[in-house]
Amino acid sequence: MFKVGIITASDKGYSGEREDLSGRLIADIMTKKGYEVVRQVIVPDEAEDLRREMLHMADELRVDLILTTGGTGFSKRDITPEVTIEVCDRMANGIAEAIRFYSLSITPRAMLSRAVSGIRAETLIINLPGSPKAVKEALDYALDSIHHGLEILTGKTGDCARK
Ligand code: MTE
Repeated sequence: MFKVGIITASDKGYSGEREDLSGRLIADIMTKKGYEVVRQVIVPDEAEDLRREMLHMADELRVDLILTTGGTGFSKRDITPEVTIEVCDRMANGIAEAIRFYSLSITPRAMLSRAVSGIRAETLIINLPGSPKAVKEALDYALDSIHHGLEILTGKTGDCARK
């Protein structure tokens, strides 16, 4: 069973002004898919908070996967991708690009997500946009391939079953 950490980056979610539907939805989807949600947090759109959570989940809790939601857009406070790039040692941007590409078939607004994805040691970190709709669309599309990536990253398989 892979361990997952979920980070919602949202000033409004953190202050209680808005309900964190996206974080909850990710937890739901991942649990149903057989992942263990070991930590789920809401942080404000602050580099220090985002960095601290990513490092805690990756280095101390040693989760296999961190999914972030929010903070990927154009507003001045949106900094999730920048912090993700900072903590990753190898980028794996095919995942973020594929999600963006698929999402463009649903809405042209998908081009406004600056989401990235990468690897810190043995933890895969993937940015998802902030809305529950976008979260569901992205995970429905990408989770199967993400799972295969995790199997390779954690050494559970070295073999790529062709698909
Ligand atoms: N991706 C999908 N699949 N579906 C969506 O509805 N919305 C977009 C985009 N990606 C969307 C999507 C919109 S409107 C924005 S502004 C960006 O994600 C950034 O969102 P964020 O700032 O909440 O992270």
